[in-house]
Amino acid sequence: MYSPIGRAITRIAPTIVRHYHSLITGTGSYLPPNIVANSDLAKKFNTSDEWIRKKTGIQARRYVDEGVGSSDLAVEASRKALHAAGKKAGDVDCILAATSTPDFNSPGIGVLIQQKLACHRVPAYDIHNTSPGFLFALELGDSLIRCGKYQCVLVVGAEVHSTGLDFTDRGRLMTVIFGDGAGAVVLEPTEGNHGLLSTRLHSDGFFYDKLWCEGPSSLKHPRLTSRMIDEGKIFPTMEGSLVFENAVNLMSLVCEEILVEKNISAQELQHVLPHQANLRVIEAVAERLNVPMTKVHHNIEHYGNTSSASIPILLDEKVRSKVIQEGDLILMTSFGSGFSWGGGLIRW
Ligand code: UT7
Repeated sequence: MYSPIGRAITRIAPTIVRHYHSLITGTGSYLPPNIVANSDLAKKFNTSDEWIRKKTGIQARRYVDEGVGSSDLAVEASRKALHAAGKKAGDVDCILAATSTPDFNSPGIGVLIQQKLACHRVPAYDIHNTSPGFLFALELGDSLIRCGKYQCVLVVGAEVHSTGLDFTDRGRLMTVIFGDGAGAVVLEPTEGNHGLLSTRLHSDGFFYDKLWCEGPSSLKHPRLTSRMIDEGKIFPTMEGSLVFENAVNLMSLVCEEILVEKNISAQELQHVLPHQANLRVIEAVAERLNVPMTKVHHNIEHYGNTSSASIPILLDEKVRSKVIQEGDLILMTSFGSGFSWGGGLIRW
């Protein structure tokens, strides 16, 4: 058959278009066993248990032992998530690894997770969006599932902060906050009403140096000098109050965006899983959203801020303790260096 302009047309048989999105079929988390109390830090530099508790809500955090990298924590969390999903490593067809603290400068931890799990030759992405990195990875994983590319995606957030902190008075503002850990989820396609209903992400590079770690830097020749080490450029720094204010504003706003997009009220939510940055940030977001703290979960007391790992660790804890039940609506939100921030809505 020919079209009016004379070119051959191949008739395509009508197909049923199927609309998939992601279901989280398994969660897992791993915290290294070494517990570091506030009082342990007070032995190293000028701080106190009272200051840390009052300003952040943190009582303790976990630190890895020498020789353990973020890929090792990620693998432990991934194994648990795969087991919960009833999957084997060979079932995974894509890995998305979020971390700001990779084992090496390159390659990223995606390939290390792949090799350690023996997920042979599947693509392994590395995502470096600090705390909201897990949500960035989740949106990407969901998109890859929605377009039909993959059927079993492993999404991991893992951090080893403890080896990159300044344990002197100069670094005390940052050092008391961070901890090590990992969390993971398995995504599979579903056509049902449950699963990941929405994600919304934002970035604003205007503030790139307000919460950052400057070195090693490819702007410098060489990338790392003894002067940079002496000046503490290899440690993360931030403008605390500016970061605090933006964390509260932007996490609240992105949550409101999702509620408006899905036409639901905050009162319909069963759970809010905020990034574990600071208990005061979490309480301020809860107040802005008008959600009672009984629904706004936190474990920052025990683990501190584990950046990209904080939401999947919290999700795993609440799933395993059965606090999260089938049908529950869960809102997640995070904020971090960049600035980058985002949110996600799940019907469990
Ligand atoms: O994951 C990414 C997102 N991160 C965040 O959202 C973190 C946001 N920011 C914060 O959580 C808060 O800014 C902090 C908890 C880090 C700090 O609280 P703050 O109320 O902003 O404290 P500040 O920076 O105004 O410092 C108050 C005082 C200062 O002393 P002076 O200048 O008033 O004499 C600091 O030098 O506290 C001092 N200080 C400390 N004292 C004891 C700073 N760090 C410490 C410390 N121990 N570790």
